[in-house]
Amino acid sequence: MAAKLMNAIQYSRYGGGTTALKRVKIAVPDPKADEVLLKVEAVSLNAFDWKIQKGIPRPILPGKFPYVPGTDVAGEVVKVGSSATKFKAGDKVLALLSHATGGALAEYTVAKENMTVAKPPEVSVAEGAGLPLAALTAHTAVTHANIKLDGSGETKNVLITAASGGVGHYVVQIAKLGNTHVTATCGARNLEFVKGLGADEVLDYKTPEGASLRSPSGKKYEYVIHCAMDIPWATFALNLSETGKVIDLTPGLGTMIRFATQKLTFSKKPLVPLILSPKTENFEYVVNLAKEGKLKTVIDSKYPWSKAEDAWSRIISGHAMGKVIIEF
Ligand SMILES: NC(=O)c1ccc[n+]([C@@H]2O[C@H](COP(=O)([O-])OP(=O)(O)OC[C@H]3O[C@@H](n4cnc5c(N)ncnc54)[C@H](OP(=O)(O)O)[C@@H]3O)[C@@H](O)[C@H]2O)c1
Repeated sequence: MAAKLMNAIQYSRYGGGTTALKRVKIAVPDPKADEVLLKVEAVSLNAFDWKIQKGIPRPILPGKFPYVPGTDVAGEVVKVGSSATKFKAGDKVLALLSHATGGALAEYTVAKENMTVAKPPEVSVAEGAGLPLAALTAHTAVTHANIKLDGSGETKNVLITAASGGVGHYVVQIAKLGNTHVTATCGARNLEFVKGLGADEVLDYKTPEGASLRSPSGKKYEYVIHCAMDIPWATFALNLSETGKVIDLTPGLGTMIRFATQKLTFSKKPLVPLILSPKTENFEYVVNLAKEGKLKTVIDSKYPWSKAEDAWSRIISGHAMGKVIIEF
């Protein structure tokens, strides 16, 4: 019997940006034993989606061409794999797909059951779609910074760079659940937005004061959660406490070399690369924060499926304030 076809967007080579995205009809995937088949209702894009297309993590990603990009999905379960027991057809869920397979920019997609979480009714489809990669990364970074999310422990001074972005806006909110004093960087037009998320001090990264990363109240940072790029180590070093650490969310070769060198020299002020290794319980935790109203998804822009290419251009711009969402 001929496979049922669906609409999808894919690309077949590295590079090309928005113009390389092609609208295609491909077979609806069949869930493997440990997967669920979802009818996609909304997708959020992440900076890493365009980086995969650009070939930055080549040859590791994507797993193969042609590739349907996108990893963050809100949708409805339509079929479950033979060993999947947590969900049934009709359940509303959120899912994080693997970067190797992608698959979000399509009418239907398959997700591993252990990377699928029930969507609470209190969280809208668009807000829920914003959560998977960005909120999980934010949660992982904050817990790497030893911030206790019940608010206990001594006050920690934390710097968060690019606090207006998809990841950064969740980092600020999660960090403020702990006992923290947060200094955050963003562009001038987002200063009030980032203060509204709970940051105690906000720096415009395009001013000399902002570029220096100096806390206006003179604090030295115990942790930096670095969601931006291209800030020289010397700038961080001047602002760190005696044992301050920088957690780098975009570790390139330079970070890896510094990390290795600092390990060998027992540096007290390390640069720590962070690559998300997602865990089900953390996914459930951030979704529960959203359910309780403690973690809000701020939506930069929403696009209908017919304008998904515009959403791709927006994420490539690097100027999103919060999350870029595509709705079906
Ligand atoms: N390690 C991991 O597992 C992992 C997981 C997810 C994401 N990431 C990485 O984390 C980084 C952030 O991701 P994202 O989704 O938040 O990106 P994003 O949404 O595209 O970030 C855009 C925002 O960052 C701001 N920004 C850019 N450069 C800045 C700077 N130097 N200082 C302050 N603000 C700056 C922009 O403000 P303006 O518009 O004012 O310029 C914009 O609001 C990306 O490099 C991404 O690849 C890593």
